[in-house]
Amino acid sequence: MITLPAITEKRRRGEPLVMVTAYDFPSARAAEAAGVDLVLVGDSGAQTVLGYPSTVAVTSEEMIVLARAVRRGLESPFMIADLPFGSYEESDEQAVRTAMRFVKEAGAQAVKLERGNSTSVSRARAIVQSGIPVMGHVGLTPQTSTALGGNRAQGRSSGDATRIAGEMVALAAAGCFSIVLEAIPAAVTAELVKLVDIPTIGIGAGPATDGQVLVFHDLLGIRDSGGARFVQRYADIQQEMTAGVAAYAADVRARRYPAAEHWYSIDPGELERFREQLAEVSGRPPGL
Ligand code: KIV
Repeated sequence: MITLPAITEKRRRGEPLVMVTAYDFPSARAAEAAGVDLVLVGDSGAQTVLGYPSTVAVTSEEMIVLARAVRRGLESPFMIADLPFGSYEESDEQAVRTAMRFVKEAGAQAVKLERGNSTSVSRARAIVQSGIPVMGHVGLTPQTSTALGGNRAQGRSSGDATRIAGEMVALAAAGCFSIVLEAIPAAVTAELVKLVDIPTIGIGAGPATDGQVLVFHDLLGIRDSGGARFVQRYADIQQEMTAGVAAYAADVRARRYPAAEHWYSIDPGELERFREQLAEVSGRPPGL
């Protein structure tokens, strides 16, 4: 079981931290078997498994169903759940209430929230004070990508990079145990990570962070499109799934499936008696 001190210790030793998203039992089992350090039940599940166009619409109820399935599939990795958009912004009380649900109902060990403005920093502090570890998330924050002008890299001007720097310092001071940096120029990230003494996890933020995270469906190619430029595909599972279902469909249509090895057998005497009983049930002589 990977604990927060174990994560800190890995960072101290300079060992890269591996984080991946998961949304259900099979993806959790894959993360477990692969030996990753941290698993995020990301609200990217809104798109990858629930088919929403963005992360905005997903609710706590939906995310809790996903998180519970992930919990059942995990033993070792440290499990974090994303707080969905609209579930923490209204007040510190709302944020603590939602975070508690993810811990008590879904078994999450920590929660993640987006942005480092004064609202998110206040929510992070309140949740930490309630006893729940919090991961921050700066740079491209998909829940508010409309306000950011779309899903694009952040921190590409000195002013914007300085804003992100201030957010990271504030989130760390609020007690976050770690921060995700998304879609930030590598050279900016290299400066940002020096500002905080907590593990940083990058996605499209270059090599300077303490660890990396990728979306499960992106890294395995379980999607129709290519994804963001920072995604490295390690498999093409969507193509494999389509090919498998197409082969099954072709076998059924050609009557190749099911074949004899897929059938159950019955003792010939039992079959004979069954046919006789069938005659009684139907009122027709055997064999007709
Ligand atoms: O929801 C998600 O998958 C995330 C990662 C991109 C960090 O927030």
